[in-house]
Amino acid sequence: MANPQFAAPTPMDLRSSMGRFTTGVAVVSADDGTGEPCGMTISSLGSISLDPPILLISLTHGSRTTDAVEHAGAFSVSVLSSRQEAIARRFATRGGARFEGMPFVTSPSGLPVIKDALAIFDCVVHSAHDIGDHRVFYGSIIDLQWRDGTGLAFYAGKFGDFHDFGHDEMPWLF
Ligand SMILES: Cc1cc2nc3c(=O)[nH]c(=O)nc-3n(C[C@H](O)[C@H](O)[C@H](O)COP(=O)(O)O)c2cc1C
Repeated sequence: MANPQFAAPTPMDLRSSMGRFTTGVAVVSADDGTGEPCGMTISSLGSISLDPPILLISLTHGSRTTDAVEHAGAFSVSVLSSRQEAIARRFATRGGARFEGMPFVTSPSGLPVIKDALAIFDCVVHSAHDIGDHRVFYGSIIDLQWRDGTGLAFYAGKFGDFHDFGHDEMPWLF
């Protein structure tokens, strides 16, 4: 519960402060049954569980993609490379058939995914919750693929790319 002594942060404050957390960028795609695939750009992609493999995405209410994921009970995620800023912008711009004329391929579960994406996750919805103005979907990962490349990054409202320091790989202890 919020402390009444503090004013609630405005959406712009939140966007500015959360914008200091560098994220990757992905496109979520789903089938809404119209025959024309839909998708949107997201940065809210999180790894939740390794065993069983589960990830989460958080989608705004009122988006065609949100409704499609809800009704189909399935979605795919394409993790974008630093060469795919234009795709990130296209899938975050309202209107139009976003996949039209796009270099897309079909994932093992039959959804359109972005060609040359760094990673592809095919998911079925494990569970979903409305949290504030978004719907959080937990996806059971049924198939995944990845390849080497440079990830598209998003920081303070701008796109960039990720370069490592050239140091040893950080061991991840389970
Ligand atoms: C880098 C970036 C990350 C985004 N992340 C999210 C996200 O995690 N969830 C979300 O609902 N919208 C996110 N958006 C906004 C949507 O992509 C945008 O509102 C889109 O137009 C929604 O699709 P719609 O027009 O079909 O509703 C993001 C936009 C950008 C540029």
